[in-house]
Amino acid sequence: MTKYIINGGNVLHGDVRVSGAKNAILPVLSATLINKGITRITNCPDISDVRITAGILKDLGCKVNLIKKKEGNIIEVDATNIEKTTIGSEKARLCRSSITFLGAITARSKEAEVAFPGGCIIGDRPIDIHESLLREMGIETTRNDSAIKTKLYRTDCNVENDKHVYLKFPSVGATENALMAAAGLTESVTVYGAATEPEIVCLGNYLQKLGVKIQGLGTGCIKIRGLKEYKKDIVTFKIIPDRIEAATFLISAAGIGDNIKIHGCETSHCLEVINVLKRMGTRIKEHKYTQDGEAINFLEISETSVTKRLNSPGIIIADAYPAFPTDAQSLILPLLSVSKGETFVIDKIFPKRFKAADELSKMNADITNTDFGIHIRGRKHLTGNKVQSHDLRGGAAMVIAGLLAKGQTIVYDKEYIKRGYDGISEKLRALGADITESQNLS
Ligand code: UD1
Repeated sequence: MTKYIINGGNVLHGDVRVSGAKNAILPVLSATLINKGITRITNCPDISDVRITAGILKDLGCKVNLIKKKEGNIIEVDATNIEKTTIGSEKARLCRSSITFLGAITARSKEAEVAFPGGCIIGDRPIDIHESLLREMGIETTRNDSAIKTKLYRTDCNVENDKHVYLKFPSVGATENALMAAAGLTESVTVYGAATEPEIVCLGNYLQKLGVKIQGLGTGCIKIRGLKEYKKDIVTFKIIPDRIEAATFLISAAGIGDNIKIHGCETSHCLEVINVLKRMGTRIKEHKYTQDGEAINFLEISETSVTKRLNSPGIIIADAYPAFPTDAQSLILPLLSVSKGETFVIDKIFPKRFKAADELSKMNADITNTDFGIHIRGRKHLTGNKVQSHDLRGGAAMVIAGLLAKGQTIVYDKEYIKRGYDGISEKLRALGADITESQNLS
């Protein structure tokens, strides 16, 4: 099995730069299909989920060009001509965000067939909200054993009637599908109960560049008015920084860092993670500087576990933005496992997302399951062991655990981690971590 080998205990120091956000680039890549022209996206992270999504775009007939750059890759998608409106299971099952092609292809071609998505197994991940919102928009939506089909019929009675769509839960992916499908209708669509994550705002900003009129981005009520056709020759767009990667470095720094500086993250997107780490006793200061005319933030983390034992925060409840993110819930478990006191962790988005806790128990963590989540009693240290990545963030949590632990930790199945982290081992090595990658199958 492919793995990371980590000899724990090295104190990390220095500077690290956050890459573009995985959960922002993937729906924007789907949305590039809406424009019969070229989109040039900057700050594109070098991750396997981007390569999978680029593969889907090529399969649909787009030309895709990836230009490697040190300061963030550029990806160009030429969607002037597309040949297909169908994504088969062999491609769709490779990632969760393939479901966002449903709204994008429907907006472009007025019909689509997308096989059920795959992605990390972090609990039940139904797609009923995606289907119901498309129906509420007047788009015929049917499913068979393996795929969802859409068809937009135009009749006199459904033209120019404004639509109102209600989400029973603020699903991120369903809100993205709502924005994209609505971009293909000429009547206005108001989405109630929409997700408010920064990645939704990023997608909305891209659609605005194409000419879609959108009000209320970042709130639970978004109004969209699309155009008949989108034909911009070239659109350029920059992806926001990855707030979950920022959380990964913030938590690693709190656990074993000495004055680490995290560059390029958007502080306002990370507030709840920062609040929890401050509550535990760290100091986090924001600084700003200008580089090549561009304002850049950096966060400096001091008073970490290196100089004192951090306090447990008591309780963490992962919930929809702006609350503590479910994706960072796994990441903080190793730090809670070595903090002073007890913490209850509850995940309201994916209530059973605790496979990382089972792996941490193999490393001396004292974690028990409760009716509503998990209960952690902080121990003085973690001990290195052989552990498994079961999903992207759970795998990254094991890497953090390995950095904090005494002795050697081997994290198997690093491919999960590579789905969403751009050069994580290189970045950690540059900070002083002893981490190597191995393709060795034993
Ligand atoms: C996205 C993120 C993922 C993050 C999650 C929650 C991407 C590619 N992935 O996933 O990293 O952990 O948001 O912040 O952006 N639900 C339904 N029916 C549906 C859709 C969702 O019941 O049709 C439920 C899910 O089971 C889950 C909750 O809604 O309990 C949230 O899911 P959702 O926000 O849709 O997550 P994703 O978009 O899949």
